[in-house]
Amino acid sequence: MSDAAAESLGPLHDYVEYDHAADSFLDDVLEGLALPQKKLSSKYFYDERGSKLFDDICELPEYYPTRTETGLLRAHATEFAELIGPNASVVEFGSGSSTKIRILLDALETPAAYIPVDISRDHLLESAKLLADAYPDLPVVPIAADYTQPFELPEIAGGEARIGFFPGSTIGNCTRSAAVDFLRAAATDLGTDNGLLIGVDLRKDMRILHAAYNDAAGVTADFNLNVLRRVNDELGGDFNLDAFTHDARWIADQGRIEMHLVSDWDQDVRIDGHSFNFVAGESIHTEDSHKYDVEEFHALAAKAGWRAFRHWTDADNLFSLHYLRVA
Ligand code: TRP
Repeated sequence: MSDAAAESLGPLHDYVEYDHAADSFLDDVLEGLALPQKKLSSKYFYDERGSKLFDDICELPEYYPTRTETGLLRAHATEFAELIGPNASVVEFGSGSSTKIRILLDALETPAAYIPVDISRDHLLESAKLLADAYPDLPVVPIAADYTQPFELPEIAGGEARIGFFPGSTIGNCTRSAAVDFLRAAATDLGTDNGLLIGVDLRKDMRILHAAYNDAAGVTADFNLNVLRRVNDELGGDFNLDAFTHDARWIADQGRIEMHLVSDWDQDVRIDGHSFNFVAGESIHTEDSHKYDVEEFHALAAKAGWRAFRHWTDADNLFSLHYLRVA
């Protein structure tokens, strides 16, 4: 634990920080922008401002995933609690504002601990403190880490089952093969005889998808452009934020939405003494959001050593929740 944040843990029982949370941003950016299809990793969206913008996305009328998943969590909370059983510790991968977990925590019988894992350290600590204040009897142990990298889960005294919680269709932000790798690692981390409650966005009419990722108010555009702002602020880049346009495209043969930032005209961008040329219409690829069928997701989970135990979908078939057990 390093600095001011650690001194003011407040109601938190413990706090663990991995330095991959503060990875080599500059190296990643220089490498990504040198590729034929320029790329920036989506993990850099989530600084304090980006995390707040993402919360705003979740409230947008066009962005159906959050509201649909929250509805499913509420509707089936007692069923999850029965499946999971008492004294479980819950590990959330990419916990963000730790909002949805409250629905699960309220339903669980004497949960042993809540372990939120997130790359955005300050946002993680702030959210974890709020949660610990609201659940004074619950040990809350935040871990600042990139959950796609190895990290260790703390031993929880008196904990029985260890349950993973991975909502928001964040799994969709991995390629299909990286999703298998993640699920396999999660099975190992959580250990045998444990479960994973995971939200997975479904394939649907592309007009619904297009609207969800190109909202009318432009919040998603701000969120996407925020990564360029970070390059400017933290790495001394000179991106002109008015010269790039957010574009989310449905790529049918990959079954995914791709997020891009498109250069409005020919331009050069300088970062730390390096120069990058953009021709008009050339893009930086910033994120993918893969969509699944229930059967397709179950096949993928099976490859990673998980057994699909039960799943739930909403009446409009927009979104799915799955309870997986280690096979
Ligand atoms: N997990 C979210 C999703 O794929 C993340 C997300 C929503 C997102 N909107 C975005 C990522 C816009 C980048 C840009 O639905």
